This record gives sequence, structure tokens and C-alpha cells, in this order.
Amino acid sequence: MSDSQKIEHRNESKDTWAELLESTVSALETKNLPNARVEAYWILEVASGYSREELITNLNVEAPRLGAQHLSKILNKRLGGEPIQYALGSWSFRKLDLLVDGRVLIPRPETEILVDVAHDRLDKCQRDEPLRVCDLGTGSGAIGLAIARERDDVEVYLVDNSPDALKVASANLTGLGNHAVKVKIFESDWFDQFPDHLKNSFQLIVSNPPYIAYGEKLPPEVTNYEPHQALYAGERGTEDVELILSSAPIWLSAGGIVILEMAPHQTDHVAEIAVGQGYSDVKITDDLAGRKRIVSCICKD
Ligand SMILES: C[S@@+](CC[C@H](N)C(=O)[O-])C[C@H]1O[C@@H](n2cnc3c(N)ncnc32)[C@H](O)[C@@H]1O
Repeated sequence: MSDSQKIEHRNESKDTWAELLESTVSALETKNLPNARVEAYWILEVASGYSREELITNLNVEAPRLGAQHLSKILNKRLGGEPIQYALGSWSFRKLDLLVDGRVLIPRPETEILVDVAHDRLDKCQRDEPLRVCDLGTGSGAIGLAIARERDDVEVYLVDNSPDALKVASANLTGLGNHAVKVKIFESDWFDQFPDHLKNSFQLIVSNPPYIAYGEKLPPEVTNYEPHQALYAGERGTEDVELILSSAPIWLSAGGIVILEMAPHQTDHVAEIAVGQGYSDVKITDDLAGRKRIVSCICKD
């Protein structure tokens, strides 16, 4: 996008939020975005600092200069092709409002289902001590932080090999308030840098690892903006999933659980591998669109 195409809302003539809403919708429509009005509301909420209800109540209020400038910044990023989540700088995941930017994958709705599977499995664990959970390849921290936010009976380790992603996860951890005391963060290439004292100690290892095969086609909005190391796993796409399955038993307690997200076409194959490696209670769970997405299983005692 050239400078002349950029939209600037200095708001010296003091547009109301309603006027800015309409100009934002029109600007987004020029890019043929299918949800222009929905996105415009999200942008105005972030730019104004209002909740949706407050924004609607205050639509006829004149927007302050700084609010209008903030709006222009977000809008120009979006018009330049950035995913709406990065343009806004935050995205909701279950009960969390997570900071997201180009250092981390945008948390997806199917990963919210993964957290449901984690709760179902953890609810069946009996233990006086906190349940120890590892979110491997944590990115923004979405999975591990949601589990920490939603349960009192856990301690959660967030692990990634990307120092940049861990900075985002740390920022999101600070937004967790009291629940943050249950969470530890560390850098590791999968399990390689795990200290020995963590062997046989996790009740759950959960991961949404990279699972795209090299050469697989993805939309440009994904490949141009999301970190490739969060996407691509290798020639087959299942390399990281398989590595986690085969390495997890060293780190799991007896009866420990593994839960993995992957592409729908990979689930049957991965479930077979899990059975072959001696895992029990191997289950495949669908995402909201009814596609097979999640393999969960229990480590042999
Ligand atoms: C698909 S993203 C998932 C991010 C987040 N858990 C989510 O669900 O939104 C995969 C994550 O795995 C991390 N990752 C890739 N290779 C890794 C490795 N060898 N060791 C640890 N983490 C790795 C990436 O940095 C990325 O954050």
C-alpha cells in the first residue's frame, strides 16, 4: 500500500465514532473483505478502548484525536493485508484476551476444543498434588494459559524453542493475574532441554505442534504473516507429532495423558501410531466443523 492510499484519521474536524465506523466499513469493503462491518466494530473497540456495549452507547460522541489515530494505524495494517488478529494486536481465546503478533501463531477455534479435551481427561485424574501440565510449542501461551486460567488444580509449563514466541507468552502470562503463580515458562527444543527432575512427572502433555508438510499450499494471509516455524514440520507434516508421541512417555507419570492437535487427514495415521506404541484409550475428537482434529491417549503404566 502506497502512502497516498493510507487512511489518516487525525480527526481535527472531530468525526463521531459512528462516522468513523462507516468510513472504516467503506475502506474495508474496497478490499472485498467479507466481514467488513464485523471487523470495523472490532477495530473501533480496540481504538476507542470501549466494550461493544459502550461503543454502541457512545457512537454519537466525537472521537478523540488519539483514538482516531489509533484506528488509522490498525486499519492501514489491515488494508495492507495483515490478518485482522495481528492488526488488532490481540485476540480472544476462551476466557483470555491474548496479545498476538507476527512472532506467534494466531490461536484458532479448533484449539479451544483441545482445551475441552484436556479438561475432560484431567477431570478423571486423581491426585492430592497439583496436576502437572506441559504445553509444548506454546506460542502465545494460548493452551497452557487457558488451562491455568480455568482450573485451580494444575501447575503449567509453557515450552517453546522460539525466544520471540516466549516473549509473547510471558506478556500474556502477566495478564493472568493470580493464576500466573501456577505457570512456568522455559525454552526448549521439544523435550531436549527439559531438566532430569521433570522425568515421569507430567500428568498431561498437550501440544498443537507444526503439522504442515513442506510444499503444502496455504492461504497467502497465513504464509505471508504467520511464523513458518509454527507451521511447517517436514516432508510428511507429522514429524513433530510423531516425535512428541514417542518422547512423551519419559516425561509422563504412569497413566499420563498426551493430547495433540493436527490436520484432519493425519489423525487416523497418528492414532494408529499411538496404539502401536502402547498408548491406551486412544481417541479422536472432531473440531467445530466436524473434522477429525485431536488425538488423545493415555501412556501405559
Ligand atoms: C502451531 S504453533 C502452536 C502455538 C500455540 N500452541 C497455539 O496453539 O496457538 C506451534 C508452536 O511450536 C513451536 N515449535 C516449533 N518447533 C519447535 C521445537 N522444535 N521445539 C519447541 N517448540 C517448537 C513454534 O515456535 C510454535 O510456537
